[in-house]
Amino acid sequence: MTEDKKSPSYTGDIAPQFVDPTQEYTRDTQELVFSDEQHAIWADLFAGITRPYFMEHVCSEYLKGFGLLKFDPARIPTVAHLNEQIQTRTGWRVERTAVRYTLADDWYQKFAQRVFLITDYLRSRDQMEFTPEPDMFHDIFGHLPYLTLDFYARIEDKFAPAYMQATSEEREVIKRLAWYSTEFGLVMEGNRFKVFGAGIISGRAEFANTVMEFYRLNRDNVIDFNEDVFTQLQTLSHIHRQAILEIISGVNQLHQKGEMSSQDQGWNVVRALCDQLGIVRKGYLGGEVILAPFEVDLIAQIPKTVYAFNPVFFVCESFEQMDALLDSYLKPVAERGE
Ligand SMILES: [Fe+2]
Repeated sequence: MTEDKKSPSYTGDIAPQFVDPTQEYTRDTQELVFSDEQHAIWADLFAGITRPYFMEHVCSEYLKGFGLLKFDPARIPTVAHLNEQIQTRTGWRVERTAVRYTLADDWYQKFAQRVFLITDYLRSRDQMEFTPEPDMFHDIFGHLPYLTLDFYARIEDKFAPAYMQATSEEREVIKRLAWYSTEFGLVMEGNRFKVFGAGIISGRAEFANTVMEFYRLNRDNVIDFNEDVFTQLQTLSHIHRQAILEIISGVNQLHQKGEMSSQDQGWNVVRALCDQLGIVRKGYLGGEVILAPFEVDLIAQIPKTVYAFNPVFFVCESFEQMDALLDSYLKPVAERGE
């Protein structure tokens, strides 16, 4: 990564890995034999997240898909089992790839064919709480429950057609919109914040900190959960707009320099940045992560912080709103090609 960090075009993406096409899996070879230790890691990751005090903060759509996928908590599922549940419901299909982090261009090529790639790599025991690299637990546990549901297939269907027509600048925005929705998005449900993004759902450290922020906002009397939560969030983000913009631009500068590129450089860096900017970390800005309403213009400015924890999470008022906001950017770009 040293070279990338020096490059002015540093995007923070995980280093691409090129695999000899002859080494890629085919339909005949994609069912893998996993070791007992790999199944045990899966089981521990699974048990660590499927605790009531986590799952009660996940959106109900995820839970619906989770039920449909009929996971065995103790075994990594086969591709055949996953496709049996997914393909008949939404037409999406899962394929195994030997590439650990697929380049966006290749990824979206597959997306356009409604193929969702899952890696053959599973994290090791020292990464149970956080891994920057999306492993098969992230791909399967985080994303696939949604792919049994039409509304999610519809959301995922928006990205590839736009990406194909987009300029390289627009492609960055598209990647960020995907990052802060399907990977790290939140959604309102029953006047509560709920976790939607697969990146939060599959990563216990980021999940725990997100849930703590829900409680903290209440404990610090920032948000009254007996009143309309989303309206209060809108008001707060307006009041603190300037601070949010300063943090985003500061994160951007750090990112360009490659200084938002490790787990330790997540919130510690954001904390130091706030101190430097003279932003007092209390009240709305007092948590480990800032929650703000999902706004395309704002998201277009904030980099994907692939290696670090995310400093801001964006909340949609509903899935309908998410649909409409994503369409507002992605549709006009996609329609250029028609
Ligand atoms: Fe993902």
